[in-house]
Amino acid sequence: MITKYLWVGLLLASTYLLYSQDYFEIITCYFLSKGFNNLTQILFSSSEFSASPLELLQTNEKQKIFTKDELKKYTNIENGLYLSILGQIFDVTKGAKHYGPGASYHAFVGRDASLAFITGEFDEKELTDDISILSVQQIKMLDDWVQFYNENYIYKGKLLGRYFNKDGTPTIESFKVQQKLIHAKKKISDEEQKKIMFPSCNIEWKADVGSTVWCSKKSGGIERNWIGVPRMFFENSDSKKYRCVCANLDSKEYEENKGNFREYNGCAKSSIKCNIK
Ligand code: HEM
Repeated sequence: MITKYLWVGLLLASTYLLYSQDYFEIITCYFLSKGFNNLTQILFSSSEFSASPLELLQTNEKQKIFTKDELKKYTNIENGLYLSILGQIFDVTKGAKHYGPGASYHAFVGRDASLAFITGEFDEKELTDDISILSVQQIKMLDDWVQFYNENYIYKGKLLGRYFNKDGTPTIESFKVQQKLIHAKKKISDEEQKKIMFPSCNIEWKADVGSTVWCSKKSGGIERNWIGVPRMFFENSDSKKYRCVCANLDSKEYEENKGNFREYNGCAKSSIKCNIK
C-alpha cells in the first residue's frame, strides 16, 4: 500500500518538476516539429526549401551541416561570403559591398554573430551566437533579420553548435528561442488586436480650455462603423499609466475588459467628447 502511494507521490513530483521547468512545452514542441518535418518532407521532396523562421523547428537531414571551421572559410570573394544567424547559414556574396573584406558588416561573415545584429557592437565579445541576454522583443527583431536573409540571399544550411545538432535537428536552445518568439508574436498580435478593438481618441489642447479628447469613426486611424466614447484604458489592473481610447459600450470586448476602463471625471457617460481639466 505504502509503495503504491510512494509511486503516486513520485509521479506527481516529477510532473510538477517538468511543468515548472517548461520542459513540457519544449518536449511537445520537439515532437510537433518532428511531425511537421515529416510532412514537409513528404510535400516538398526538394532538399533546399527556404529557411523560414519556423524552420528552427524543422529538421531536414539532406541539408548541409557546416562546422564552425568550415564556415570560417567563407570570408572572401574567392570562396564566397557566408554568414550564420540563429544557426542558419546564408550566402551573402551578392552583398559584397556590405560584407566583403573591409566593408562595414564584414564582421558578420564566417561566423554566427547573432547577438551583434541587435546590439550593433562588433567587438569580439559581442560577436557571439549567445543571445540569452536579449528580451523577447529583441528576439522578434532578430527573427526579422532571419526573414530578411531568407528573402534576399541564398539559404545554404545549418551551423553545428548552439542551435543545431550534427544530424540537423534543432537543439533545446533552439526550442527555447522559438518559444520566446511565439510569445513575442502573440504579444504583438494581441496589442494590434487591442488597437483595433479600442482605438485611440483624438486629442486637442488649447490654453483656455485645456485638453479635449473625442471619438470619431476614424479616430486612432481605425476606420469603423461605430464612434465610441472616450475612456481611460489601463493595460492591467495595477498599471498607473493609461491611454485614452474610444470604447464601444455595446461590444463584447468592452464587456470582457470592463475592469480596465475608467470614465473621465465630469464627462457624461455617453458623451463622445470630454474636456480634461
Ligand atoms: C544594430 C545596428 C545595425 C545593424 C546590425 C546593421 C546591419 C546592417 C546590415 C547587415 C546591412 C546589410 C544589409 C544587406 O545585406 O543588404 C546594413 C546595411 C546598411 N546599414 Fe546598417 N546596421 C545597423 C545600424 C545602422 C545604422 C545606425 C545606420 C546609419 C546611421 C546604418 C546604415 C546602413 C546603410 C546605409 C546600409 C546600406 C543600405 C544599402 O545600401 O542597401 N546601419 N546594415
